[in-house]
Amino acid sequence: MCGIIGFISNKSCTTKLIDGLLKLRYRGYDSCGLSVLAQKKLYTFKSLTEPQSLLPLIPNHVNHTVTAGIAHTRWATHGVVSLSNAHPQVTHGKISVVCNGIIKNHKKLRDSLIQKGYTFESETDTEVIGHYLDLLLKKHDKLEAFSELQKTLTGRYALACILEEDPECIYALCEDMPLFLAKTAQGIAIGSDLYAFPAHDEFCQFDSRTVYQINANGCSNKTLHYQKSDISDTPSTLNHPTHTLSEIYEQPGLIQDIPALWRDRCPIPPFIYGAKHILVIACGSSYHSALLLKYWLRDSAIHCDVDIASEFKMNPPHHTKQSAAILISQSGETADVLIALKQLKTNNTLALCNVMHSSLPMRTTAKIALHAKKEVGVASTKAFTAQAIALRLLYDQLHQRPILNPDVTSECTQQILMRSKEIRKIAYKYRSIKNILCLGKGEMLPIALEGALKIKELSYIHAEALPAGELKHGPLALVDPEVLVITLTPAPCNYMDICIHEVKSRHGKTLNIGAVCEHADDNIIISTGSSPLSFLPLNTALQLLAYFFAEAKGLNIDQPRNLAKSVTVE
Ligand code: F6R
Repeated sequence: MCGIIGFISNKSCTTKLIDGLLKLRYRGYDSCGLSVLAQKKLYTFKSLTEPQSLLPLIPNHVNHTVTAGIAHTRWATHGVVSLSNAHPQVTHGKISVVCNGIIKNHKKLRDSLIQKGYTFESETDTEVIGHYLDLLLKKHDKLEAFSELQKTLTGRYALACILEEDPECIYALCEDMPLFLAKTAQGIAIGSDLYAFPAHDEFCQFDSRTVYQINANGCSNKTLHYQKSDISDTPSTLNHPTHTLSEIYEQPGLIQDIPALWRDRCPIPPFIYGAKHILVIACGSSYHSALLLKYWLRDSAIHCDVDIASEFKMNPPHHTKQSAAILISQSGETADVLIALKQLKTNNTLALCNVMHSSLPMRTTAKIALHAKKEVGVASTKAFTAQAIALRLLYDQLHQRPILNPDVTSECTQQILMRSKEIRKIAYKYRSIKNILCLGKGEMLPIALEGALKIKELSYIHAEALPAGELKHGPLALVDPEVLVITLTPAPCNYMDICIHEVKSRHGKTLNIGAVCEHADDNIIISTGSSPLSFLPLNTALQLLAYFFAEAKGLNIDQPRNLAKSVTVE
């Protein structure tokens, strides 16, 4: 979703701002823009396309003399995708604001500003901020005005602002949303996502309810407390046409490496070992990984509930102070998960997260890193795999089993990737299909759900997952020659054979993934061995299938329409 990057430096920093915007794209965006201060004047440029399109808009004399700037990728929430709604939002050509999140009381503020004679050019809540600040600056000095602004705004937000009258500064403040600062070789960077910053060794995270006045040396009104940066990897698509494919191909390596990291140092906190009740909370793909843990724990003495974070918020299931809560999130910024965390009755909270400097692991009692490295593709692939491995390792530790040996699963996943041409051919064959049903049983049900989600997000083909046994209890009514039914059968299974016959009798198409089923129209044959992670190669085959459906349809695979990488609004 929306992203902020800002720079203040003794050298021109426009290319750094554009670089930052390019790096923010992975979060999902539909417009972008920047404001810069050059020779004591404020300039603003916006685009509805790629961040690079901003560069030719900036006149040379401005480009060479920029001392400070703020930039933004917008993912529309308040108002349509348009240049006037894109950020920065500018007041009277003098005050420029970029903002992530939502200002809850924007309507009330807008009405009162209109009464005072202010006019609005956008539908955004952000425009209110600059206008209100303008009003405050008439009565207060700058820091006081920002402090008053912060007291007035309600909601979850992070914002950065530059003022024409103060060309040496960027002002920043946040409420329950991340905003960071780092000293880089190119100057001081601020922003909402450390991945958008140039190389840096240390960073600090801004506190809520605090105004920061940033200059070219750091912060002039607060002492900052730096932490070591954990960002070392630069994601690359060198060998693959997209980040998503590159991330799918990283999985055999992750399957191999993650158990070894646990062997070196088991990260499970003591409260998990003692828990009689474990509550797992997550969204989307992370929720699907949680369902695997529930399935594994179904016959154990530990009672496990799994809840979708947005449902938990509405109606939390029974839990006590003694329950342990595991919150799973690739990004660590998913608003629904962060809100669910606040509503928990227990402090026994464990984050399973891929971005360790994000909000979730900073707020839970304990944290476990997923070690998936940065995931850029909007659709989660390798992070889901890392979650599933972490949860299996946790399950095995709870039952005092040795750390699993990942060799067979890693090798088998590698084999699937080497057979990608075969999967591509099948995807191209069925690319015009309109509806897909994915059938799974037991541990394969979460994999069917995850596969259907990947197909939906990447290829825009309608796909649903269901327990194989439920087919005849209703969904069979959907089956006709336009429907493809995908069956997941890690081992020969009479039950799936019956399902395939039922579908074929109604002229539906069938694709079986796993042990060969001779009645299916097509098979992706996978022999998984007997590892506890044997579901992963089937998941990889589904990821590739979804990927090649999207490729066949010529879609933007790394950034599917309407989606954002971290969903920071409710
Ligand atoms: C699916 C996908 C989403 C996320 C969901 C939760 O491919 O990426 O469904 O899994 O938005 O995100 P995190 O894990 O960052 O909390």
